[in-house]
Amino acid sequence: MAIVTMKEILQDARKRGIALGAFNAANYETACAIVQAAELEESPVILQVYSRMFGNGKAEALGGLLIRLAEKCPQKVALHLDHGENLEQVRNALEWGYTSVMLDGSRLPFDENVALTKQAATLAHQAKATCEGEIGHVAMADETELTDPEEARKFAELTGVDALAVSIGTVHGYYKAEPKLDIGRCREIGQALPNMPLVLHGGTGTPISEVQKVIPLGIAKINVATEFQHCFLKAVQADLEAAAGKFIPIDKFMDAPTAACVEHLRKLIRAFALKE
Ligand code: 13P
Repeated sequence: MAIVTMKEILQDARKRGIALGAFNAANYETACAIVQAAELEESPVILQVYSRMFGNGKAEALGGLLIRLAEKCPQKVALHLDHGENLEQVRNALEWGYTSVMLDGSRLPFDENVALTKQAATLAHQAKATCEGEIGHVAMADETELTDPEEARKFAELTGVDALAVSIGTVHGYYKAEPKLDIGRCREIGQALPNMPLVLHGGTGTPISEVQKVIPLGIAKINVATEFQHCFLKAVQADLEAAAGKFIPIDKFMDAPTAACVEHLRKLIRAFALKE
């Protein structure tokens, strides 16, 4: 199939009332797991790379490999800069062949977030790519600020983004207490933006039953990073312990952790498509 823009696959998902998984790759194996899971589930997928890797050369070097994996996958794959911090990262991603960028201005005052995100969306559209923005703020190591539906509508109109990340009760990373999503707020945002694919960040540890309540309300992209990458690391640790010091060539050793990740992602893809 082809490497595609995020808009192409997310608009279709929103129309169908389902969501697609957006998973953070950090190396060859995690990237392979993402495209293999998409292939086995016959589902489009978003392969994304976190902004930190745009500051240390990894996103550029990995970019060529990710494009090749995406092009060889029989399913549609979008390649996305996750949590872009500035326009330099956006320009770099577009130059390196990423088909989608996020500019995360969610910690800025409204007007500054609009101005920066609008520039990112313009750059993306000039490169025939698509852009995600965020209004409200999903906490990282800071405070959550839930999204106001009217502000979300205005933000989308003023910036021209193709997908909009909203804050409805999730946080990034593992939870300290079980989260409860603000379903009513999500419904209002979905009604204010009936054609906009909404994005749920902080997929890790959010109960699937809660996630499945907001998908029909407009959530079309669900980001999962921590639990997926931890699945890889835990499998590596278990297999190293089982090898008990015996040398196994790295290419062979990595097959089992990759397979564990594929199984994990397949379950998420099915759940987000409301298949189980
Ligand atoms: P988690 O690490 O909580 O899954 O969040 C991922 C995310 O939102 C990436 O943008």
